[in-house]
Amino acid sequence: MEFYDVVHKRRAVRQFKPEMVPRDVVMRVLDAANWAPSGMNMQQWEFIVATGGKKKQLGECYAKAAEKMFQGVDEARRKVMVESAREFNGAPIVVVALTIADPNPFQGKMHQQSVSAAFENLLLAACAEGLGTCWALGPLLEEAEIRRVLNILPEKEIVALTPLGYPAVEPPAPPREDPDLTKKFTWVE
Ligand SMILES: Cc1cc2nc3c(=O)[nH]c(=O)nc-3n(C[C@H](O)[C@H](O)[C@H](O)COP(=O)(O)O)c2cc1C
Repeated sequence: MEFYDVVHKRRAVRQFKPEMVPRDVVMRVLDAANWAPSGMNMQQWEFIVATGGKKKQLGECYAKAAEKMFQGVDEARRKVMVESAREFNGAPIVVVALTIADPNPFQGKMHQQSVSAAFENLLLAACAEGLGTCWALGPLLEEAEIRRVLNILPEKEIVALTPLGYPAVEPPAPPREDPDLTKKFTWVE
């Protein structure tokens, strides 16, 4: 797929087919993440690919987080959201992105930005492979539990998670707030 088509086509996918993604395809997607720019070329990312029982445990964490996220939403809708979270919307894989936990705010920002760049590469590569993803921060409302499930050491910080799998839907693109690039984009001399 042509680069700009990928950029425009990538969507937050929240409904997946159950089919497993072949390992070589997952590895290509991870390789794209591994080629991101990084602060001081530290390449300070790590990715955990969770399937099977581990994915299920992460789903339980996301369900708990969703209970919190959708408090106040009407009960029937909340139940649907919680159950979708429990299954990571049906995706067979969940990818967890980690970086270095750093008490220095500037260094911490650098690590977060490096992993965000890698994560976006991953999302775009997945799209180019015909896969769906959804950048998800919400599960981190249950961060302690996720850390426990994945045995993440205190020296590491979780940046984001994404389900990975074949999309069962093609979500419509949310319109751009500034499609003509006239309000949010400024040229100065
Ligand atoms: C930092 C960040 C956190 C996000 N967290 C969640 C999340 O917890 N759950 C979710 O369903 N989507 C999450 N999203 C996806 C956004 O809702 C989605 O990108 C946005 O609605 C625009 O849709 P699009 O990605 O299809 O363009 C997150 C996206 C970003 C960049």
